[in-house]
Amino acid sequence: MHAGFFQFNTAFGRKRENFEKVRAAARTASPGLLVLPEFFATGYQFISQDEVAELAEPVPRGETTEFLVSLSQERDLYIVAGLPERGGDMFYNSAVLTGPEGFIGSYRKTHLFLEENVFFMPGDSGFRVWDTKIGRIGIMICFDWFFPEAARTLALKGAEVIAHPSNLVLPYCPQSMPVRCLENRVYAVTANRIGREKRKEGPELSFIGQSQITSPRGEILVRAGTDDEILLASDLDLALARDKKLNQYNDLFRDRRPGLYTS
Ligand code: ACM
Repeated sequence: MHAGFFQFNTAFGRKRENFEKVRAAARTASPGLLVLPEFFATGYQFISQDEVAELAEPVPRGETTEFLVSLSQERDLYIVAGLPERGGDMFYNSAVLTGPEGFIGSYRKTHLFLEENVFFMPGDSGFRVWDTKIGRIGIMICFDWFFPEAARTLALKGAEVIAHPSNLVLPYCPQSMPVRCLENRVYAVTANRIGREKRKEGPELSFIGQSQITSPRGEILVRAGTDDEILLASDLDLALARDKKLNQYNDLFRDRRPGLYTS
């Protein structure tokens, strides 16, 4: 699988402008998987429920998912990207998967961070994996990485690649994802944003960039800087992600002892 991310600075509330930035970047992408950040077209720091209601969209019949489907078809890409979702009267921090065949599925973020807890419902979709023409793709969003159960569940469900749209502000994730990948023998594509948001009183949010692709061997295959708008990609050998054997005696999944773990 050829897989990449586009790291950029989202302009808050200016969906069309953000779509155009993504469309321009995608012109340089080869067919395969492209991961975009969490809330890639809206920005992150909502300051009221009304603002969330104004920018959130139904999935799949909303302009953001429709834009992603058209871009997938134009560029022969599978795209995973984050957006605020309106589901009935509720709002979710979601990500969609689109491909040349159209809308494929969505995931609602399980572990909400900071004031997401004020404006969004904790996701109820559970962790999901899709068997696509280019490989088995699972999704988690940003802070989900802090809970090893998220990546583990995706790996146990057969994910070969974890697509990880993010808006990271804490410094730990870039050092931690190689371990998530090593302990589950999967690839991960973390697509983070850059820039700052201070839309109200209180500390400024500064997004740390450093989007990266990490391998089942715990290697960082590519990593962006802290402040560059860039599309980076790598070729992934998915056979490596399917092989859970460490040596003649140890198989990462077979050796698990769930009876001794606390759920
Ligand atoms: C985060 O979950 N956006 C840090």
